[in-house]
Amino acid sequence: MSAQIHPDIETVLLTEEEIRTIVADLGAQISEDYADRNPLIVSVLRGAFIFAADLMRAITVPCAVDFMAVSSYGDGVKSTGVVQIIKDLSTKVEGRHVLLVEDILDTGLTLKYLMGLINGRGPASIEVATFAIKDIPGNRPAIDPLYVGAHVPNEFVVGYGLDYAERYRNLPFVGILKPEVYS
Ligand code: XMP
Ligand code: MG
Repeated sequence: MSAQIHPDIETVLLTEEEIRTIVADLGAQISEDYADRNPLIVSVLRGAFIFAADLMRAITVPCAVDFMAVSSYGDGVKSTGVVQIIKDLSTKVEGRHVLLVEDILDTGLTLKYLMGLINGRGPASIEVATFAIKDIPGNRPAIDPLYVGAHVPNEFVVGYGLDYAERYRNLPFVGILKPEVYS
């Protein structure tokens, strides 16, 4: 494992193996909950694409996938809740069981916005699966996701789809970036 650690990474939070277990567990749970519901997995680009791809392969019931690309206004490090839709869904969500798949939940404002948007289109149901959630003392995210892979500390984390300035998405593990990389 140590040979895989990237020189810009301070601490590995989740190893490749731990991620595999997390995703397998979520997939099993979702397969049970969504049997006969043909869920529409909505992957939020770009960060969630790797998690969504793995999660979908861990789901054993029929399901479909579509993508939404969003960008939060601002510096990209802190969420404002104002979300710009870069790419909308190609699939009609009316009457569908939508499972929104996100990489990481911080304030929850991005997903709250997306849930509101999709809800307005009349889905049969909508739930959220997030790979990670940031534990911020004294703070509650704006939404309460049904499926949570892991809790991570309130640090800027990268890898497994998560980026800093579009880098590190390809790391197979999740880690904390060394402060000198972004300061
Ligand atoms: P909110 O606050 O709306 O933020 O829940 C969620 C969005 O912010 C991004 N985000 C991160 N991206 N490392 C990242 O690469 C992080 O530590 C991090 N924290 C938040 C994330 O893309 C998500 O869409
Ligand atoms: Mg993102």
